[in-house]
Amino acid sequence: MAKATARFVCQSCAAATTKWSGRCETCGEWNTITEEKPLSQGPSGKTLGKSRGRAVALTDLSAKEAPPPRTACGMDEFDRVLGGGLVPSSAVLMAGDPGIGKSTLLLQAAAAFANAGLKVVYISGEEASAQIRLRAQRLNLAEAPVKLATETNLRDILTTLDETRPDLAIIDSIQTMWADNVDSTPGSVSQVRAAAHELTTFAKRTGSSIMMVGHVTKEGQLAGPRVVEHMVDTVLYFEGERGHQFRILRSVKNRFGPTDEIGVFEMTGGGLSEVANPSALFLSERGQPAPGSVVFAGVEGTRPLLVELQALVSPSPHSQPRRSVVGWDGSRLAMILAVLESRCGIPFAGLDVYLNVAGGMRVSEPAADLAVAAALLSAREDAALPPDTVVFGEISLSGSLRPVGQSENRLKEAQKLGFSKAILPQGGKATASDGMALSRMPDLTTFVGEVFGAG
Ligand code: TYD
Ligand code: MG
Repeated sequence: MAKATARFVCQSCAAATTKWSGRCETCGEWNTITEEKPLSQGPSGKTLGKSRGRAVALTDLSAKEAPPPRTACGMDEFDRVLGGGLVPSSAVLMAGDPGIGKSTLLLQAAAAFANAGLKVVYISGEEASAQIRLRAQRLNLAEAPVKLATETNLRDILTTLDETRPDLAIIDSIQTMWADNVDSTPGSVSQVRAAAHELTTFAKRTGSSIMMVGHVTKEGQLAGPRVVEHMVDTVLYFEGERGHQFRILRSVKNRFGPTDEIGVFEMTGGGLSEVANPSALFLSERGQPAPGSVVFAGVEGTRPLLVELQALVSPSPHSQPRRSVVGWDGSRLAMILAVLESRCGIPFAGLDVYLNVAGGMRVSEPAADLAVAAALLSAREDAALPPDTVVFGEISLSGSLRPVGQSENRLKEAQKLGFSKAILPQGGKATASDGMALSRMPDLTTFVGEVFGAG
């Protein structure tokens, strides 16, 4: 019988090879390949089939379960993104670009949770305690009962946490942590994975909640393997454009609440302040209606959010015209240009197209399709949309318009902010309310004809 050969498996992409190497040929990650013995051999060489395991107790799905107890910190934007507050024993990863404000936000959250009665420990591997105290003074948080430490040795941190048993421990950042039983440098894939595993296990074992900061690399990847995202209960992304003061906290995974929920903050000299009415903020710099500018009535998680889309279309000096997008999906833009071209006969060949979501916001809803098309047409025809108009709707490849969810919510928000007209797809549940004129369009061609008088 052939001897089972040892398999070497990349811990990042799961590709298997027969030989160890320093770099995975499939995904290009370094130091991710480890040996995994086939199960039939087992780590001790015994087969699994011979000895019996212990029978685990099975329970009913219908057994009543109380919702998890939660602690709200009082920063509403933060609590909502967590799903209504912090759940004991939960592990939360806060990821974002360096310098975006993760440490600032978590220090503010630490103070808020401490003031709400939790025992909070803040451990930094990046900044000295004196530096953190200075920041706390600047943020007016110096009186909050938060315990500080500067440490990177994971073993010491776990012992400290085990002795103090905080309700919440903040680890800034997971990339600086160092487990002495893992033979690689801090920040490497194995170190990050080991540290995240130890901390998550600690949270599950003791009931403490852990919040870890994770830096994102230039390519937009969480430095370290995606596997950290699988380990934790909640993954929050803290995003924003450098030049803008708005910051958006987005939940992309949450075992204890809805995902796609966002919290909006503004970076000020005194730290991050909550923005309770983000639509007003994203539209605040809007002047007179201009060609190429369209207001999209969007929804992020449970809240409606109006954002301005801006397009610029100009003759291209290049043989390959430019397609440049900020805050929206590039391939979705290509699709909309193709639909405009082949279903409505409006060519964009030989034209450079730029699309921008104002305020550093990122839109991912297909419901923005119609607003994008409107902005592109408005820029191309050099004609502004009627003032006080919002637009939303999904465009299908056939050129027809499909109704989108939460139309009622979108219209209400638009009305609240002083808009009086809406352009939306036919069908769907939205009903007209007083003071809001609805133009319902069956397809893109009708839209082009009625709004721009062209075809
Ligand atoms: P920081 O929280 O250190 O970012 P991260 O932990 O994500 O790397 O914040 C970095 C930036 O925030 C820094 O460039 C300065 C700015 N900032 C303010 O504008 N106002 C403030 O009150 C604070 C504390 C920071
Ligand atoms: Mg930091």
